[in-house]
Amino acid sequence: MGIKEIIKKGKRCVVLTGSGVSAESGIPTFRGDKGLWKEYRPEELATPDAFMRNPQLVWEWYNWRRGIIAKAKPNAAHYVISDMEKFFADFMLITQNIDGLHRKAGNKDILELHGNIWENKCFNCGKRYGEIMSEKLQKCECGGYLRPDVVWFGESLDREVLEMAFLKAREAELCFVIGTSGVVQPAASLPYVSKESGAYIVEINLERTPISSIADEFISGKAGEALVKMRESFLHGSG
Ligand code: OAD
Repeated sequence: MGIKEIIKKGKRCVVLTGSGVSAESGIPTFRGDKGLWKEYRPEELATPDAFMRNPQLVWEWYNWRRGIIAKAKPNAAHYVISDMEKFFADFMLITQNIDGLHRKAGNKDILELHGNIWENKCFNCGKRYGEIMSEKLQKCECGGYLRPDVVWFGESLDREVLEMAFLKAREAELCFVIGTSGVVQPAASLPYVSKESGAYIVEINLERTPISSIADEFISGKAGEALVKMRESFLHGSG
């Protein structure tokens, strides 16, 4: 059975996305030639230690990223993924992206594995705060500094979110892996869980990744272009 049949017959679908999906919206990815980690060192910016060392610097770096994200709009990839949510009876979007663009494009069932850059929480007591637009680091009423509510290196993912992601990956008949280098755990394990329970794996990326070896179909290209083609030929039934 090929992808066309699977899409027609499959009811349970998961989509795992990474920063490649937002690349066409002008948001830099992490790895690769122009990736953020070429210019910055994760351990100097995206770790609890980094924040303890220099909270203002980390806050400013996230503000800079918020500035880029604030100007960005969802691209074709986000919109096709939002159509997919309407198409499949049981659908879950699992994203490593913290930019909130999937929600802007209309997706409702989203597991944000690495949090959301617009949310904040206290580094000390964990109290949650919403959006804060301030150049200067802010303090919680407990005296602790506020930080973005994202997952940093060395931190655990939210347990409930992660459990739901694994459950949905296990139940899926169809698993799309789009625009992720597939090297950051535990997200990178999800397609393997789907594969083990018999799902058909479709990967879309500019280049092959460690996940490509288990993909039933590898589509080489930009996420937006590849997904628009797929929508025309499958989701709208014209192919
Ligand atoms: P990466 O930067 O590691 O990978 C981006 C992937 O997208 C690469 O495999 C690219 O080939 C691919 N790509 C780039 N442009 C694309 C396009 N237009 N269409 C399709 N694919 C494209 O980003 P992630 O896999 O998201 O974590 O990184 C995973 C995690 O590592 C991030 O969530 C972040 C990071 O460090 C934390 O901050 C905890």
